[in-house]
Amino acid sequence: MKTSHELVVILDFGSQYSQLIARRVRENSVYSRILPFNTAAAELKKLKPKGIILSGGPSNVYQDDAPRCDKKIFGLGVPVLGICYGMQLEAFLLDGAVEKSDHREYGKQELVLNVKDSLLFKGFGAKLAVWMSHGDKVIKLPKGFRTVGHSSNSAISAMENKAKKIFGLQFHPEVVHTPQGNQIIKNFLFAICKCSADWTMESFIASQVESIRKTVGKGKVVCGLSGGVDSSVAAVLINKAIGDQLTCIFVNNGVLRKNEAEKVVATFRDNFGLNLVYADATDRFLDKLKGVEDPEKKRKIIGGEFIRVFEDEARKIGTIDFLAQGTLYPDVIESVSAKGGPSATIKSHHNVGGLPKDMKFKLIEPFRELFKDEVREIGRELGLPKEVIQRQPFPGPGLAVRILGEITRERLAILREADDRVVAEVKKAGLYEKIWQSFAVLLPIKTVGVMGDERTYENVIAVRSVNSTDGMTADWTRLPYDLLEVISNRIINEVKGVNRVVYDISSKPPSTIEWE
Ligand code: XMP
Repeated sequence: MKTSHELVVILDFGSQYSQLIARRVRENSVYSRILPFNTAAAELKKLKPKGIILSGGPSNVYQDDAPRCDKKIFGLGVPVLGICYGMQLEAFLLDGAVEKSDHREYGKQELVLNVKDSLLFKGFGAKLAVWMSHGDKVIKLPKGFRTVGHSSNSAISAMENKAKKIFGLQFHPEVVHTPQGNQIIKNFLFAICKCSADWTMESFIASQVESIRKTVGKGKVVCGLSGGVDSSVAAVLINKAIGDQLTCIFVNNGVLRKNEAEKVVATFRDNFGLNLVYADATDRFLDKLKGVEDPEKKRKIIGGEFIRVFEDEARKIGTIDFLAQGTLYPDVIESVSAKGGPSATIKSHHNVGGLPKDMKFKLIEPFRELFKDEVREIGRELGLPKEVIQRQPFPGPGLAVRILGEITRERLAILREADDRVVAEVKKAGLYEKIWQSFAVLLPIKTVGVMGDERTYENVIAVRSVNSTDGMTADWTRLPYDLLEVISNRIINEVKGVNRVVYDISSKPPSTIEWE
């Protein structure tokens, strides 16, 4: 993983905020990487970081099994910023002292600055609001340190060794509840580490194009295009680098949404001129799904069939040297939290690659170092339409996890139309980009209704809309009643086979996002 950009390293002690710290640094146009807390100082030195940040973590520094960094990192001449557990570890390793406490200081606090000339607080007034979340605290400064700030609960809430450029903060500058947190991070990056803000998506594209060309040479690359953000941006970027040496395979698995296949082909083949194989395997999938009601079986059938279709198409292309994937940084980070802290459990669940495992491709993963927002930014730079860049997540098994019971063509046709109304109206209301997912679910149970003078006996559509940041937890969206009314009216009036619409008001947990 080489990069020509300046680097700030975050050593991960298992904080739920480690990734957030990395993102905050990058939002300031400085490249950052999360590394295991026990990365040797000699290893770090080779990476020539401009700065090192020690994350928070759930442990207590004085416990025998507490995660500790290599003490030699403090002698590398590289500025270090310890946050929460990271600050306590500095005190512990550099001969200060940390007090064990059962009492937690949690939430908003006021930090009062003891000094006026700390570079970390350059441009600040005497007080600021900060977000705390800790039990233990530093009670004795390490040698060469001074107290920079205190709170009503702790005499040392911020400390620094000015000469060695080692800083400690008991609070979290990376969270939004510390309103001036970004300025503190900025001061660390620019006033202290002297970074030059060279991490821009433009420069990333340029360096990736070059490195993809070098890696691929005259070889051939294949990419599974789903129409989702990651694979779409990856395909366009790789195409920019190697043109027709890239072939994209787009599989229609029969459970896509209304006009989805046509849109993908139009966007990528017609607009971007990608070398695109469109494999319409609708019949293959739907034949296999006939009579299947169990959701796990549906998933397995779709996953397995996808691999077979993909292999068939790849074989037709001939010799292939590389497989491109849109893997993102959060999937890559090997968390090292000794206690299995929260950062170890944040994994993108469900999104298992699902591509042939026994095919001997080398992988090209241009986004292994990127967060989702950065991929979106690249997509914008490369001119991808907003519709693709802001697309809400859509599950691999598609509408098969949104039709309860058997998947039939008739049910798919009803759901496609209903879903189309939900998405169209949410977009019209300007809410689509603010919502994690909003869609329709078909409940193939019949309830009674009246239309004109006739009694009807038709299906129910459930509307689901949730807010979430990672799909792991979610809350139902408080959609305006007027919007729900329009959605309901349009579905019942325009979609044949539906006479009732309900709104799902369950959060996850204990419910899930999809109904299956
Ligand atoms: P649940 O329904 O478990 O979904 O709350 C969490 C997130 O994962 C998506 N999802 C899937 N994605 N294959 C996928 O690629 C699947 O089988 C699958 N099942 C759920 C879902 O849309 C939500 O974003």
